[in-house]
Amino acid sequence: MESVFGRFVEKSSRRISGVLLSDTATPLAAPVIVQQFNYYSKMKKYLAMLMLCAFASMTAGAQEVKKLPQPDLTLNVTLMDALKNRKTDREFSDKAISEQQLSQILWATCGINRPEKGLLTIPTAMNAQDVKAYVCTAKGVSLYDPKANTLTSVSKTDIRPMLAEGQNAMAKAPVFILLVSDQTKLRHNGQIYGAMDAGYASQDICLICAALGLKTVPRAMMNKEKVSKELGFPETMVLELNHPIGY
Ligand SMILES: Cc1cc2nc3c(=O)[nH]c(=O)nc-3n(C[C@H](O)[C@H](O)[C@H](O)COP(=O)(O)O)c2cc1C
Repeated sequence: MESVFGRFVEKSSRRISGVLLSDTATPLAAPVIVQQFNYYSKMKKYLAMLMLCAFASMTAGAQEVKKLPQPDLTLNVTLMDALKNRKTDREFSDKAISEQQLSQILWATCGINRPEKGLLTIPTAMNAQDVKAYVCTAKGVSLYDPKANTLTSVSKTDIRPMLAEGQNAMAKAPVFILLVSDQTKLRHNGQIYGAMDAGYASQDICLICAALGLKTVPRAMMNKEKVSKELGFPETMVLELNHPIGY
C-alpha cells in the first residue's frame, strides 16, 4: 500500500485537491489511487466542516469589549457638597451622559482604588467583591470589568423597560446601572451580605451623581424574572438594585 502510493506520488504530474496523481500509474494501482483520492477529498470536506463549526462557535461566543476612558479622580467637589446635594429624582430626560461621566460613576460603584491589592471603592463582606455592575442602555447590556476598565457586551436587548417596570416613565433615562450580587462569591449569609454590599455601591452612585450634577434614584422595583431570563442569570446572581441615571 505504502509502496504503490509512494511510487505514484513520486511520478506525479498533476495535483488534484492537494493529492499528487500519476498519469503513468499502473492499472493495478488505479483502484488504490481512486480510494486514496476519495479518502483525501472526504478528509478535506470533514476538515472544512470542522473549521466552519469552530469558527461559528468562536464568533457566537465572541463578546464586544469596549475600553472606558480613565476615570477623572480629581473631581473638584467636596464630600460635604455631594452629601448636601444627594437626593432622589424620578423624572428623567433622554439626554445622554458622557463616557467620561459613566467611567467616573462605575469607578465609584465598584472600581479599584488600591490597584496594588485589587481592592475596591466599596467595602464588601469578607472582601467577596460580589457586586457586579451592569450598564443598561438603548443599545443593550454590558458588564463592567473594574480591573480592565472595560465594558463587555452581554446582551443587545434594551432592558430599561424591564427595569423601570412599575415606574415606566423612568425607562427614558439614558443609562441604568443594575447591581447584581454574585452569591457564589459569598460563603455564608449571602442574602444579607449581598444586599449590604450592593447598598454601598448604591450609595456611591448616589454621591457621585450628586457630585457630577446628575439625577438618580436607587430602585428595588424591577421585573426580576424577565431581566434574569434575558441575561441568562442562574439563581446565584441576585438582582439587588437599579439606578436610572441622567438629566
Ligand atoms: C433599598 C431602596 C429601595 C428603593 N426603591 C425605590 C423604588 O423602587 N422606586 C423609587 O421610586 N424609589 C425607591 N427608593 C428611593 C426612596 O423612596 C427614597 O430614597 C426615599 O423616598 C427618600 O428620598 P431621598 O432619597 O430623596 O432622600 C428606594 C430606596 C432604597 C434605599
